[in-house]
Order: sequence, then C-alpha cells, then structure tokens
Amino acid sequence: MTQDELKQATARAAIELIKPHLEDDMILGIGTGSTANFFIDMLAELKDDFDGAVASSEASAERLKSHGIPVYDLNSVSNMRFYVDGADESNDQLHLIKGGGAALTREKIVAAVAEEFICIADESKLVGVLGKFPLPVEVIPMARSHVGREIVKLGGDPAYREGVVTDNGNIILDVWNMEIIDPKATEAAINQITGVVTNGLFAARPADVLFLGTKDGVKTIKP
Ligand code: A5P
Repeated sequence: MTQDELKQATARAAIELIKPHLEDDMILGIGTGSTANFFIDMLAELKDDFDGAVASSEASAERLKSHGIPVYDLNSVSNMRFYVDGADESNDQLHLIKGGGAALTREKIVAAVAEEFICIADESKLVGVLGKFPLPVEVIPMARSHVGREIVKLGGDPAYREGVVTDNGNIILDVWNMEIIDPKATEAAINQITGVVTNGLFAARPADVLFLGTKDGVKTIKP
C-alpha cells in the first residue's frame, strides 16, 4: 500500500467511528493536512447528516466549503463531540507533534474544545520518542530572535521557516535536535517563553484515540 492509501484507510476508520453519532445539529472539528484532506473528502458523503464544521485552517475551511459543508466560527459553537486531525509524530501515549502545516495554534484551540480528539495517521508517524520531526513553534514576529535564543537554552536548534506566515499573521520556528523525553514539561517550558503563541506539542491535551494506517490494516491505539 502507498502512504496515501494508508492515510485514506485511517480517514475511513474515523468516518466509521463518527458516522453512528452524527446528529442534525452537530458541529465537527476538522484539522489540517493531507490526511485530514482525505477525511474531509469522505465527510462530504455524510454532509446531510450533520450541521457543519469548524476548521483549524483557512485551507481546510475552503475544502469543506467546496464540498458544500458549512463552516462555523468556533466562537459560535458551545460544544463539539469530535475533532479529527492528522499529526506529524505520535508516541504511544498519543502525545503528538503537530504543525508541519503551520496550523498548530488553531488546531490546539479546536482540540481544546472537543470532547474527543481522533488522530488519523499513517504508520510512519508513530515513534518511541518525539522530536525527530522538528517541533513547530508559532511566534509573534518581533519576538523571533528572543524566542530563538531561549529555545537554544532549552537545548533545541531553532530554524526560521522561510516564507511562512500563519493564518494568525505570525511566524514559525522549527526546533531541531530535541529528544522530547517529557512532552508535557517541554510543551509547558516552550509556552512560557514570552513571544511564543503556542508550540506543536499536544501533550497537555493529547489525542484520545489514534487510528494508525499500517500495511496490516488500521490499528486503534489508545493511551
Ligand atoms: C498541520 O499543521 C499539521 O499539524 C498536520 O496535522 C500534520 O502536518 C499532518 O499532516 P499530514 O496529514 O499531511 O501528514
């Protein structure tokens, strides 16, 4: 199976999970990236069975709208049963690194609101220790150098992601060479740096279930 076929299989597993729970007034949280895109395309089949979605990026919002799925502002939504999104890395506790697509802050906000965070990813994303994938950090532009120096003190090698402006108007630093043994502590430490909007570690609020697309089928992983 190709990597895309693995992603499609995991998106299908998420569709099957949410399908029996859909209700006319339900709003779903939808993430960003190629795996989330497969999910959005499959969700179009069910668009008459729920109300609409909140998207974690402008790109996902546009894709949802192109299928005729209404997109809501998160502030108009008081509860959300499911959030479905991909990841750049996951450990077996479902602590994640996200933000490869620069949407980490909105992803973290939508995940915070959702009752259940369903992560969908192909098997290349499951790791023993997080950090081989460079950790994205969203930073207020004027704080870039300061935040970079502080990250060096924490043991990381920050690199400015050239040419990228987030949906919130900020920049991304990708932190290389960090072996993240304690994801909750690292998430908190980086978020404490003045000028950081948020970082791509999802450890304080991990996924609740991971559908992992493997060559032997989709595995369901819970912490
Ligand atoms: C977007 O900012 C990321 O958090 C994505 O969820 C992540 O990069 C996964 O993307 P793929 O599904 O394309 O691997």
